[in-house]
Amino acid sequence: MKGIILAGGLGSRLAPLTRITNKHLLPVYDKPMIYYPIEALIKAGITDIMIVTGGNHAGDFLRLMGNGKDFGLKHLNYTYQEGEGGIADALSLAEYFADGEPVCVILGDNIIERNIVKAVRDFKEQKTGAKILLKEVPDPERFGVAQIEGDRLVSIVEKPKNPRSNLAVIGIYLYDGRVFDIVKTLKPSERGELEITDVNNAYVQDGTMTWEMLDGWWTDAGTFESLLRASVLVAQTGANNE
Ligand code: DAU
Repeated sequence: MKGIILAGGLGSRLAPLTRITNKHLLPVYDKPMIYYPIEALIKAGITDIMIVTGGNHAGDFLRLMGNGKDFGLKHLNYTYQEGEGGIADALSLAEYFADGEPVCVILGDNIIERNIVKAVRDFKEQKTGAKILLKEVPDPERFGVAQIEGDRLVSIVEKPKNPRSNLAVIGIYLYDGRVFDIVKTLKPSERGELEITDVNNAYVQDGTMTWEMLDGWWTDAGTFESLLRASVLVAQTGANNE
């Protein structure tokens, strides 16, 4: 399985912090934000990794991480997203890298307390389709929200005004090689982006999407509040623990 970290976008919600650097290079406690998703993949046994970046500071990723020596890697792959076409647009840039293999995709601003080895192992056994991870949150309207009936995932709604549950779809996704064909069928949403929620709903509709609850805390770090919360949580417990 290959790993893809999506670290493009302009991080405009964190302006002026993001005026002179990329959001994913900002500190979360004692490390740059991008270190956490890289470690999450490595702890899950995924070492063939591509980072999709963008914006005006892409060169700083290379200066910071080079070939991944800090992580015990021999090589890191990079690609560049023009503009801010959405999460699924960023993912589409990794098609050549994935080369038909299953992928574990992580949003560059998502940080987790516990490792995801079990979900990755379960997905390998599943062989086709996709898997998402869910977490109960107090503010579901900020996220993709899963509607579950019994054990069945019925649909996912992106940032609903009136959420049907408190189950956020976290930014770690497992996909089979079909994901890139699905992205090619998407149309931009009202906010002008290719939405990862539309990708996930395509798998829900064809009956090949599975889901698990995430163990331990999860946070994004794309707003001032969540960036602060991420630093406090990492300081208290560390991230990507066994
Ligand atoms: O954090 C989980 C949530 O992430 C999910 O629950 C939502 O379903 C999903 O849409 C996403 O919501 P956000 O609106 O918070 O995503 P945001 O625009 O902050 O982008 C998250 C990361 O995705 C960002 O750190 C970098 C990457 N990204 C985003 C965009 C828009 C890209 O690489 N390129 C892009 O064009």
